Amino acid sequence: MDKTQQLASILDRLTNDSTSEEAKREAREFLKHTEPQELASIEAELAAGGAAHEGMRHLCSAHMQVSGAERKAFRDSLEDRHMVAILMDEHLTILSNLDRLEGLVMPADPGSGDERTSTLEALNKLGQTLVDAEPHHAREEEVLFPAVEERGMAGPPAVMRAEHVEFRQLKKGVRDIAAEMLESSSDDRWRELARTGKHLVALLRDHIFKEDNILYPMAVQILTDDNQWREMTTRADAIGYLPGHE
Ligand SMILES: [Fe+2]
Ligand SMILES: [Fe+2]
Repeated sequence: MDKTQQLASILDRLTNDSTSEEAKREAREFLKHTEPQELASIEAELAAGGAAHEGMRHLCSAHMQVSGAERKAFRDSLEDRHMVAILMDEHLTILSNLDRLEGLVMPADPGSGDERTSTLEALNKLGQTLVDAEPHHAREEEVLFPAVEERGMAGPPAVMRAEHVEFRQLKKGVRDIAAEMLESSSDDRWRELARTGKHLVALLRDHIFKEDNILYPMAVQILTDDNQWREMTTRADAIGYLPGHE
């Protein structure tokens, strides 16, 4: 079995039973013996073949257990005002919003009366908060990606840009469907809202994981001029930061 088939089989098992200890152990073993770049290309191959997002998510949590310490060491190696350090810190804020979103869209229906109203209001507001994270993605697209592209690393930023386009739509979807449901008394669109929210959670978690563990470390590795980083951080400052990260 080659590595792509091996990963596909692990993902299948994690999708069917996310509590399977054996599949989780196999996932951790697999990740320990797979370089980040190799994992990125296997993942891209599987995603093109339509691999389930849910399985990818479980793989991500298995991967986080393996690489959490590496991520922390990388973050700690950067000064707090380095633009990559701020991007990584903002990811933690975005991830906690995704945890809330996941909890809100989990039930089979939005409930009734006051419960329904408060669930939909929370989803509308959370959708807007996620839409407002745009300066984060703008700093990547306008400052970080061009700098690494200039050094000949074109693939990973292209994948990240395409994912930005995809999740911008999903964020607006969560906000707008929740607003529309608040205006009406019908729950017809709840399933669509829940599906949109779950898709966004899976996509954005995986996206953040790839940036923290692959793209950012590669960028810091290939851009070695401190003056260039200082100049990039000044341009990033001009775009602005998420609340709490100014
Ligand atoms: Fe990004
Ligand atoms: Fe990011």
